[in-house]
Amino acid sequence: MIHIKTEAEIDAMRQTCRLAAETLRMIEPHVIAGRTTQELNDICHAFIIEHGAIPSPLNYRGFPKSICTSVNQQVCHGIPGKRILKAGDIINIDITTNLNGFHGDTSKSFHVEKPTPKGMKICQVAKSCLDAGIRAVVPGARLGDIGWAVEQTALANHCTVVREYCGHGIGREFHEEPAVLHYGKPNTGTLLKPGMIFTIEPMINLGKPDIRHMPDGWTVVTRDHSLSAQFEHTILVTDTGFEVLTSLDDEYR
Ligand code: MF3
Ligand code: CO
Ligand code: CO
Repeated sequence: MIHIKTEAEIDAMRQTCRLAAETLRMIEPHVIAGRTTQELNDICHAFIIEHGAIPSPLNYRGFPKSICTSVNQQVCHGIPGKRILKAGDIINIDITTNLNGFHGDTSKSFHVEKPTPKGMKICQVAKSCLDAGIRAVVPGARLGDIGWAVEQTALANHCTVVREYCGHGIGREFHEEPAVLHYGKPNTGTLLKPGMIFTIEPMINLGKPDIRHMPDGWTVVTRDHSLSAQFEHTILVTDTGFEVLTSLDDEYR
């Protein structure tokens, strides 16, 4: 069942999503060579707690840290630890906050110091894929329209979409219905209705779409070791289109 949020729930979602976005903005200047992913985790953890929230990933299905940090060929769910960032790395930082019982989820891929040409390309394409998906959100459209828009953007840029992981409904639960696939056919799938809230979070590879799981039980990597990037927003379906709940500026207005 897909939960249509009430006005009160939408307000609570606006607050938690704003905090998640503020956490991502706060951490950006710390993404520099010499930092460990554990340090990024600890700074985000403290910020989230100081703002009266809980980091949703911590202990979620046994996940041991407060954020996900996925570097270079890591696709998603990287576990913060001793890894030291170096110039030219790309790193996705995925923040989910639980504020007053509501989850807000957003992520972004950053360049460490000076971007490499491949790093620049995959991050630009991943952001374009997210934006194409977001711009397909309007009441009366279907989930397949979002997936189609995302995948066409990836393919037009000679990149590929990871198929094993998807966006998701979000609210009182971290992961709710529906599953938001990043591929699909136009005019198929669940009808979008005002009050639905879900994430769009395509994982885009520079090489083949195939993935592997690391022995830590969480980290997902590209099978061919190509770079992978991801951007994620939490989206409300409005009466006329969409509201990007995890955007802090007027980019999508
Ligand atoms: N934030 C991720 C998502 O976008 C989920 C992370 S689950 C975790 O859905 F356990 F790895 F934190
Ligand atoms: Co998500
Ligand atoms: Co996320």
